[in-house]
Amino acid sequence: MAGVQGSALAIAVSNAGGLGSLPCAMLSAEQMRKELLAIKAGTSQPFNVNFFCHTPSKPDAVREASWRKALSKYYEEFGIDPAQISAGPGRAPFSAEAADLLEQFKPAVVSFHFGLPEPGLMARVKALGSTILASATTVDEAQWLEAHGVDAVIAQGSEAGGHRGMFLSEDIATQVGTFALLPQIVKAVKLPVIAAGGIADSNGVAAALSLGAAAVQIGTSYLICPEATTSAVHRAALKSETARHTVLTRLFSGRPARGIVNRLIRELGPMNEIAPAFPWAASAIAPLRARAESLGDGGFSPLWCGQNATGCAELPAAQLTRALAGAA
Ligand SMILES: Cc1cc2nc3c(=O)[nH]c(=O)nc-3n(C[C@H](O)[C@H](O)[C@H](O)COP(=O)(O)O)c2cc1C
Repeated sequence: MAGVQGSALAIAVSNAGGLGSLPCAMLSAEQMRKELLAIKAGTSQPFNVNFFCHTPSKPDAVREASWRKALSKYYEEFGIDPAQISAGPGRAPFSAEAADLLEQFKPAVVSFHFGLPEPGLMARVKALGSTILASATTVDEAQWLEAHGVDAVIAQGSEAGGHRGMFLSEDIATQVGTFALLPQIVKAVKLPVIAAGGIADSNGVAAALSLGAAAVQIGTSYLICPEATTSAVHRAALKSETARHTVLTRLFSGRPARGIVNRLIRELGPMNEIAPAFPWAASAIAPLRARAESLGDGGFSPLWCGQNATGCAELPAAQLTRALAGAA
């Protein structure tokens, strides 16, 4: 889960018998190397390394200007000078540099969100012998991933927190819930299917397995574990009743992602097209988020959260992993 965890959570989950993941979408090559070294030192168990693989869009100066105009009242309120805001992509897709690192560290599992890397890079990952996973949010995406060489498909239902892994369509009307999506994908592909979205306890895990899942992927429940790096405002929101109200929003990055409804979402509308395309929307919000968070205000933060936050527990991740597996 990019932005809310690093090696510590991955190590704890892998050592407890789960498959811990290192999210790399927001890491430089140097940060990635450091985190991979930490994982190698912290566990001898298998782990997963996760990447986004969007095709980066070009920055659009006109859209960026409209976006900053829409945010100008907030810049004024928080005393921020928009001229000082640097525009940057924030999230990078899988690259040749990342493939070099994978060749050094040879993780047991590599997973992709937003489709797959271009064929040359994909061939390099396949040559490592790592098991390759990727998210599908529709039956079409699952079949596309199967045809393009993944070893297992993650069926990401619309309950899931964070970014939708959608890549064949931009229409959020195509997105369905986990227990509708999972059995359809199980039927449509020959590969093992991993269920993701809204699973928050051992009964949810058992239900997904009984619908044909080979495994489950869980995010939201781990967000307030001590090993996560989730911010204070995000933790507070997850622990409060506001976590019951999430929406898909494109305001924070330019792509639909599920998060807790906050002031920015309420005032601009969750899917407002004024926010630039992924990943450019994030930079204009960054200083607002930082200033508001310093005041204990999560009104401008991406409070990523799935539709079922009842599994969030301030427990060591190993304990939570065992409880989810029904073994605690
Ligand atoms: C805070 C947060 C960040 C996430 N970041 C990523 C990511 O970087 N890569 C990825 O493949 N999935 C990411 N996801 C999605 C998860 O992999 C998973 O599909 C989802 O958390 C499952 O649903 P749940 O949140 O209801 O457990 C993220 C989810 C959350 C909550």
